[in-house]
Amino acid sequence: MKPEHIAIIMDGNGRWAKARGLPRIAGHRAGVEALRQTVRAAGDLGIEWLTVYAFSSENWSRPQSEISDLLGLLKTFIRRDLADLHKAGVRVRMIGARDGLAKDIRHLIEEAESLTANNKALNLLIAFNYGSRDEIVRATRAIANAVACGELRPEDVTQELIGKYLDTSFAPDPDLIIRTSGELRLSNFLLWQAAYAELVFMPCYWPDFGRNELLQAIDSYAARERRFGGVTVARDVAL
Ligand code: IPE
Ligand code: IPE
Ligand code: MG
Repeated sequence: MKPEHIAIIMDGNGRWAKARGLPRIAGHRAGVEALRQTVRAAGDLGIEWLTVYAFSSENWSRPQSEISDLLGLLKTFIRRDLADLHKAGVRVRMIGARDGLAKDIRHLIEEAESLTANNKALNLLIAFNYGSRDEIVRATRAIANAVACGELRPEDVTQELIGKYLDTSFAPDPDLIIRTSGELRLSNFLLWQAAYAELVFMPCYWPDFGRNELLQAIDSYAARERRFGGVTVARDVAL
């Protein structure tokens, strides 16, 4: 079965650049090109949801110059690629804390979201200033407020309700999470939503990722047996 929702931790831009004797920004630029290829490939393959981790709530701890480079690349990406994404039927949405972002970036995000709001080919979620713990804190505060003003009762708080208060309220949980660069961790990405995701870790640095690597990850996903805590009936019979 093909995954309905693929989420990617795009990691290794800095090491890709370092291996070439280039500054980190060169790795981030090459990473944007890999993102373009990946979005195109996901669309071609009929993937419905693609979420990409572009900037974490912890990435603010990087040097100021690198932060400016990353914010600049997000702006350039939206400005340059929005028309093409729209033409390709991609619906763009951002997840993450918007409060912490400058006004011009927030406006660009809103522009991208409203222009592409009716597109149906591929849902692209860009996680920017995103951290799962921060998302869960924001959701919990909103729920606590709703309880405090009597809109919700404590017994209304269910898994489904919590899901509705998360940034990903409109999306199915990811089936497959890919991380490049060989690191074996989630780094605060989709912790709640990843409960039953299949994880694929790949050694290549993000700028080297493209259609072939996406296909490889999908193949690896297809070979997995998802049990969601249950048992596989057919297998029991065979035993
Ligand atoms: C991923 O590449 C991009 C972001 C986190 C913004 P890195 O910048 O983390 O690259 P490495 O991990 O240092 O190689
Ligand atoms: C995760 O990568 C965040 C993004 C890819 C945007 P990091 O490079 O920030 O993660 P750590 O620090 O290695 O865990
Ligand atoms: Mg990294």
